[in-house]
Amino acid sequence: MEYLVRGDLCFSIDAAHIETKEDAYLHVKDGKCIATYENVSAELSSLEIKDYRGNLILPGMVDLHLHAPQYAYRGTKMDLPLLDWLNINTFPEEAKYENVDYAKAAYENFVEDLKESPTTRAVIFATLHKDATLCLMDLLEKTGLNTMVGKVNMDRNSPDYLTEHSAEESLKNTVNWLEEIPQDYQHCHPILTPRFTPTCSDALMEGLGKLMRERNLPLQSHLSENKAEIEWVKELCPDAKNYGDSYDRYGLLNRTVMAHCVHTEEEELELLMQRGTFICHCPQSNTNLQSGVSPVKHFLKRGAKLGLGTDVAGGANLSMFRAMTDAIQASKLRNCLLEEKDSALNMEEAFYMATLSGGQFFGKVGSFLPGYDADILVFERKRKGVRKETLLERLEMLLYTEKELFDLKAKFVQGRRIL
Ligand code: GUN
Ligand code: FE
Repeated sequence: MEYLVRGDLCFSIDAAHIETKEDAYLHVKDGKCIATYENVSAELSSLEIKDYRGNLILPGMVDLHLHAPQYAYRGTKMDLPLLDWLNINTFPEEAKYENVDYAKAAYENFVEDLKESPTTRAVIFATLHKDATLCLMDLLEKTGLNTMVGKVNMDRNSPDYLTEHSAEESLKNTVNWLEEIPQDYQHCHPILTPRFTPTCSDALMEGLGKLMRERNLPLQSHLSENKAEIEWVKELCPDAKNYGDSYDRYGLLNRTVMAHCVHTEEEELELLMQRGTFICHCPQSNTNLQSGVSPVKHFLKRGAKLGLGTDVAGGANLSMFRAMTDAIQASKLRNCLLEEKDSALNMEEAFYMATLSGGQFFGKVGSFLPGYDADILVFERKRKGVRKETLLERLEMLLYTEKELFDLKAKFVQGRRIL
């Protein structure tokens, strides 16, 4: 499979720079980006050209954190802080996924919408139910999106109707789930998913650490999202140096994405950087649940591994464009309210987090640089504008106006067209 994609290319090359190439060609071979060209050489002139002249061509978006079972109630129940929100709103909703018919109907809606969104890669929480999680993975595998999905572990401080009653039970369910995932899946892969320290006993964390190493699996969880949560972790884990250490002492940070890190201070940040842990910033959720405003510009300056997430249903929608503009806006509020110098993110930085930076969790993903997976989005302007705009201006308009001004016309994952 080899072809050229013709159009107006925009892709991150680092945190500060978006490369723009008007009416250029992206050379794709065997699912990878080979090069970009201004003109097609005689040598390449026999290749198929997918002609999207005049359209914006971007790398696929990477959503590093969202909860599939929360999609059904997105946009409701937003007026409580995290721990109450979990107990009153979220846990009763997630308990419904014990019923596989309910799960299938809800997950079909979620998967269809994710497929039609600009997201090409996602790291997803399911619930603690094995069969519903397998159902979600089956639906996702069929879309051709590249995803990681986790059956949730929770064996303490959880309601009777949504708990695994011991570490052994939780670990056994996890192994059974892993064993039942069809071997021939190409696109949907498992990720270990302890919900967060408050709902996971030490024995469970220790067992998950072993499983992670034995089976060479990645892991996702939540970290330092809310002040009450952090205080609770201090009580539950008096020996841990900080919240991050409650995972690290079981070796759980090494191939990991940690959602939030709103209140992560220097010592915890150092630890995450030493371990190469990805921090997933979820700005809409942090506002809705009044968790705070993450010092994400500081993380970026320090060179931490960073991505962006929607955290549905802490966030109400799947849009990674919205996640970018939310990140920019929240960082500007932080800048003026805390009178910090230089904590505002710009478009280049937000775009980098949603593509090249977050994409690293999947490998060489999130750019059109040579060797990167060919995850490609094509956007067509609905109505011709009256102004003459630069490519960067058009990109910015897309991020802020989304479907009002642009249609997603085509979507490719690893070179395969899926939409
Ligand atoms: N911490 C533990 N569980 C959750 C969850 O479902 N959503 C969010 N935002 N934070 C959590
Ligand atoms: Fe979350």
